[in-house]
Amino acid sequence: MLNEHNVDSILSTKTIGAMLAPFFMFVSMQLPQKHSATGTTIFTVMSALAQQYNAINLSQGFPDFHIDERLSQALGDAAANGYNQYAPMAGLPQLRQAIAASFARRYGVQVDPDSEITVTPGATYAIYTAFTAILSPGDEVIVIEPAYDSYIPNIEMNGARAVVVPLLSPGFGVDWQAVQDAITTRTKAIIINTPHNPTGAIWSRADWDQLAAIVRHTDIIILADEVYEQLVYDGERHYTVLEHEELRARSFALYSFGKVYNNTGWKMGYCIAPPVFTQAFRRIHQFLCFTVNTPAQYALAQHLSNDSAPIHELMQRKRDYFLGLLADTQFTVHEPARGSYFQVASYERISNLPDKEFAEWLTREHGVATIPVSAFYSNGKEDKLIRFCFAKKEETLAASVERLKKIGVAQ
Ligand SMILES: Cc1ncc(COP(=O)(O)O)c(C=O)c1O
Repeated sequence: MLNEHNVDSILSTKTIGAMLAPFFMFVSMQLPQKHSATGTTIFTVMSALAQQYNAINLSQGFPDFHIDERLSQALGDAAANGYNQYAPMAGLPQLRQAIAASFARRYGVQVDPDSEITVTPGATYAIYTAFTAILSPGDEVIVIEPAYDSYIPNIEMNGARAVVVPLLSPGFGVDWQAVQDAITTRTKAIIINTPHNPTGAIWSRADWDQLAAIVRHTDIIILADEVYEQLVYDGERHYTVLEHEELRARSFALYSFGKVYNNTGWKMGYCIAPPVFTQAFRRIHQFLCFTVNTPAQYALAQHLSNDSAPIHELMQRKRDYFLGLLADTQFTVHEPARGSYFQVASYERISNLPDKEFAEWLTREHGVATIPVSAFYSNGKEDKLIRFCFAKKEETLAASVERLKKIGVAQ
């Protein structure tokens, strides 16, 4: 019988050693570093800090208000009506048709739902899948920084190398000569993002033409991250790569429903690409996640045909409200965001701290969480800028600026 005395003898040092050996082997095992990014993403870090200090969270890019009731109702209905099993690999046909109709209506471009659209669990996944479909070890991808933080790890996870080109400062325009100079025989792709996170800059038709001229006599593929396509302000408009016939033929265009319907937590998106690219994309997708949340696809398919006020009107009101309030603080805004739901502001009048330390200090001491813009540079370049997300309720924005107003100029 097992008692406390014979337990001792059963679990002799030798036995315990033998039992724990696999564990020690496991912890000392060298696992590959698949990419060069270290630690947790800044978005998780700042949101956790916001929680720790009970700060108002203007850091991570997500709305704090309710989604359209018709959309949540449609999601519930889809589940209640039994749409709970695997959807087709490429996405529900009615959702792909609704996406195609939306591009025809808004941009006048024809997209074939069967051969050019694939529904994905968010845009981040779509970007990774597109990279995986095209990259081989040794390839290079040009990344224009500051950039969304998944791009470089995704490139490296595919054995390729990111070649970074900084945006011009001030103003965040593209340094076309630098892009041209970065191209080598190994350049497989260029990833671009418009409207741009974190700067709020948007590309004009002329920017696409510049890019077309640079890649014209090459096999370079374009990844166009257009997740904020519907968030453009002051009467300006988004130019999608799909409108640029020459570039469209060599592009993956990536989109997120989260940024359009304020439901970032649904993690739903899609990829639009020419048939040959779509086939390559689906070759990866079918073994990566195979198919995407069925009730959410039903709900979105239905909601795409609902009449809704354009999301940019709501977000522009929020941007203007936030900018109006921010004018009473010591933060400086060089240019209102032209797109996205982010506003970059300088704190040079307030502090000399590096931006990461400043953002931590702001969260800890003043209860407002933001993102330091250096987090969008692989070399941590910092210009005393932080990024605010203004996709929040007016009371959230007002409460945060009340706190920011109390911060004086540096002595
Ligand atoms: C530029 C950019 N691309 C992609 C994404 C991710 O979109 P999703 O949540 O659909 O993966 C974000 C989210 O913040 C983003 O800012």
